[in-house]
Amino acid sequence: MTTLKAIRGTRDLLPAETGLWNRIEATARAVFARYNFGEIRTPVFEDTALFARGVGEETDIVSKEMYTWEDRARAQSEKTQSLTLRPENTAGVVRAYIEHKLGESGQLQKLYYIGPQFRRERPQRGRYRQFSQIGAEVIGPVSAGSESPLRDAEVLEMLATLLDELGISGWVLKLNSVGSATDRPKYIETLRAALLSVVGQMCPDCQRRAETNPLRVLDCKVPEDQPFIDALPKIADSLDQASRDHFAQVCAALDAAGVPYERDHRLVRGLDYYTRTTFEFTHGGLGAQNALLGGGRYDGLSELIGGPKAPGIGFAMGEDRLVLTLQALESPKITLLDAYIAPLGEAQNPVALTLARELRRQGLSIELGDGSFRLKKSFEAADKVARAIILLGEDEAQSGILTVKQFSSGVQTKVARADLAAHLTASRS
Ligand code: HAM
Repeated sequence: MTTLKAIRGTRDLLPAETGLWNRIEATARAVFARYNFGEIRTPVFEDTALFARGVGEETDIVSKEMYTWEDRARAQSEKTQSLTLRPENTAGVVRAYIEHKLGESGQLQKLYYIGPQFRRERPQRGRYRQFSQIGAEVIGPVSAGSESPLRDAEVLEMLATLLDELGISGWVLKLNSVGSATDRPKYIETLRAALLSVVGQMCPDCQRRAETNPLRVLDCKVPEDQPFIDALPKIADSLDQASRDHFAQVCAALDAAGVPYERDHRLVRGLDYYTRTTFEFTHGGLGAQNALLGGGRYDGLSELIGGPKAPGIGFAMGEDRLVLTLQALESPKITLLDAYIAPLGEAQNPVALTLARELRRQGLSIELGDGSFRLKKSFEAADKVARAIILLGEDEAQSGILTVKQFSSGVQTKVARADLAAHLTASRS
C-alpha cells in the first residue's frame, strides 16, 4: 500500500513549532485589542462569484490559483453551486459587513481575523498552498471617517508596533498610491501604450502580461528587464489631485509618528480592489518570497459586491513567513514543566494520577510517568521535560512526605504533600 502523505504545499505543524505560532497569535490579539479591533471569523469557503467580482477575474489569484469546485445539489430544492476555498479574507469580511448590515451602526468597523487561506501556487520556502494569514480591516460609512488618511496611517503605525513587539527587526515598509478607481484604468492604458515599443525586448512573461495585465509587468524580477521597467511611466503621474493630497497626508502622519517607510512606485499589488494607498512590509531574511505582509485601501470593494458605499483599508500578514523570520532571528525556547511524577511500581499509578490532578488543578504543569518504568528511565524522561522529579513510592504514599529532586541544583528535598504546590511554584524562578 502506498503511504499517505500531506498534500504538496500543505504542512503539519508539530508541537515544537506551534508554540511560536501561538505566541505570534497571542501578541497580535493583544495589540489588536489595544487599537479597538474585534475578531471576525468567516467561513473558509464562499461563493466563487465573491472572489471573481471582489478580487478580480483577471488576477493571478482568481484565474489560476483558486481551489474551486461545483458543489452538487443534495436535494431537488438545492442548486448546484460553484464554491471556492478562500484565497484571501478581505472579500469575505466585506461580504459579512454587507450581510450583517454593520454599516448601519454608523461606526467604523475594526475587524481582525486569523486563519487558513488557500492558493494553488508553486510551493517554495515561504509559499504554501494552505497558509495562514493574520489580517485586519477598517471599514465603514464615509461619515464615520473611513476615507480619512489618518486611518491608513493608524493601520501602518499599528503594524510597525506589532512587528516590533513580535521582535521582528529589520522590516522595511514600502508604500505607494494607486489612485482612485478611475486613475488605475487610465494608468493601465498609459502603461500598455508605453510597453508597445519595448516589450518585444523583454521576457516572455512580460510579453504575455503586457497583453493580459500590464500592471504585473512591474513585478518582473528578470534582471535584463529592469532598465525597461524603470523607464516606464509611474502611476504617481496618473493620480488625480484628491489622491495626491490623500497620499501626502498619509505620509505626513507617518512622518509625525516616526514610522519609517520607502516610496515604491512599482507597488501596485496583485488584487484588483485596491484604490489609493498600497503597502507591503518586506524582510530581507525571507529570500524570494520577501513580503511579510501586504495591504491597502479598497474604497470601492463593497459596492463591487453589491453593498453600500463603505471605504476601507486593511492588511494580511503571512503567518508562515512571520514564523520563518522569527525562527531565523531567535534561538528556540524550551519551556520545562514544573514537575514529573514518577510512581515507583504500578500499584502507585492511581495515587500518582490523583497527585497529578491536585497539582494540575492548582495551575502547575505536570507530566505523569508510569509505575512500570525503571527508576533510571523515569529520571531520564523527567530530565528532558521537567525542572523536577517527584518520587512516589509506597512509603511516600503512606506518609504524605514526598521526595522532590530539582535538576538544575541537584538538590533533593522531602516535602509534605500539602506544601508541594507552593514548593514547586517557588522553584520556578
Ligand atoms: P496578499 O498580498 O495576497 O494580500 O497576501 C498577504 C500576505 O499573505 C503576503 O504578504 C504573504 O505574507 C502571505 N501570503 C500570500 N500568499 C501566500 C502563500 N502562498 N504562502 C504563504 N504566505 C502567503 C491579501 O491577501 C489581501 N487580502 C490583504 C489585504 C487585506 N488587503 C486589504 N486588506
